[in-house]
Amino acid sequence: MRSIFWDNGLKLIDQTKLPEKLEIIECRNIEELADAIKRLAVRGAPALEAAGAYGIALAAREREFETVDELKDYLRKSAKFLASTRPTAVNLFVGIERALNAALKGESVEEVRELALMEAERLAEEDIERNRKMGEYGAKLLEDGDTILTYCNAGRLATVDWGTALGVVRSAVKEGKRIKVIACETRPLNQGSRLTCWELMEDGIDVTLITDSMVGIVMQKGMVDKVIVGADRIVRDAVFNKIGTYTVSVVAKHHGIPFYVAAPKATFDWGKKAKDVVIEERPREELIYCGNRQIAPLDVKVYNPAFDPTPLENVTALITEYGVIEPPYDVNVPKILKI
Ligand code: MRU
Repeated sequence: MRSIFWDNGLKLIDQTKLPEKLEIIECRNIEELADAIKRLAVRGAPALEAAGAYGIALAAREREFETVDELKDYLRKSAKFLASTRPTAVNLFVGIERALNAALKGESVEEVRELALMEAERLAEEDIERNRKMGEYGAKLLEDGDTILTYCNAGRLATVDWGTALGVVRSAVKEGKRIKVIACETRPLNQGSRLTCWELMEDGIDVTLITDSMVGIVMQKGMVDKVIVGADRIVRDAVFNKIGTYTVSVVAKHHGIPFYVAAPKATFDWGKKAKDVVIEERPREELIYCGNRQIAPLDVKVYNPAFDPTPLENVTALITEYGVIEPPYDVNVPKILKI
């Protein structure tokens, strides 16, 4: 099942309910979609790319418009509104811009609506296609019997389908390789324990859950052959991914364990450097409560960044739909991705 799709309206899996409940919700307007994005009902960079594009299609259908110019103005405003929901994953902006630019070519209200939805549907198809390609390239790096450590959720749920980092695992398993996964729980929102473990178990892929603080011991004990993670934005000197990824990369480097990042071309923002990227800071409540249980003093000072930059020198290779890119990245990324 796709994590996000159009079926007489915009539907998505509410990822906050997993693993207890697989629930599909409908976003009836862009306010509801913005709320779904902010509370991480839909999340993961490529899924946000699709959400942004479908958001424009949704905005175009929200109400009646007297003229095509009135609709186009509303779409431009809606694009800004949707882009203000989360700052770090560049894919959200890519998706919004793609659907907006397609829609603005329309000459009637009906045509604008159709063009926006067509572009969102095309983008969703392309996401699945590129994940499959990335999976095929990445699977060549995995050997029969490998144990892969992954962080956060870069699977089906974080994309439209198949996944980036977990797509590589899925492709290797499909080729007949016996692959095991170690999933870090990914505090504070537990995308690893809630989502990665759930979706791998659904597919019958061997997964073992650890807390984030156990990364050191599993590497020390020789239990990890390779690390594969996804990305929210890749700039000229760093990969931005879920908070804690940088720590994993440092420990992997210390133990000589290959550290791979799987991400589509749309995640590359090659004109920028780490200092240019805004790291989302999330509400203090995420650290003070675990579910309904209070786990810290209510008035404690809190720092809760959602992402961190992993320097590119810690990355063994980048797995993309155009192939596996090895260092030197300043030469090979523009050459292979043509950016
Ligand atoms: O805050 P989230 O859950 O949206 O963060 C997601 C991640 O950090 C993923 O690893 C990243 O988006 C890659 S998903 C293929």
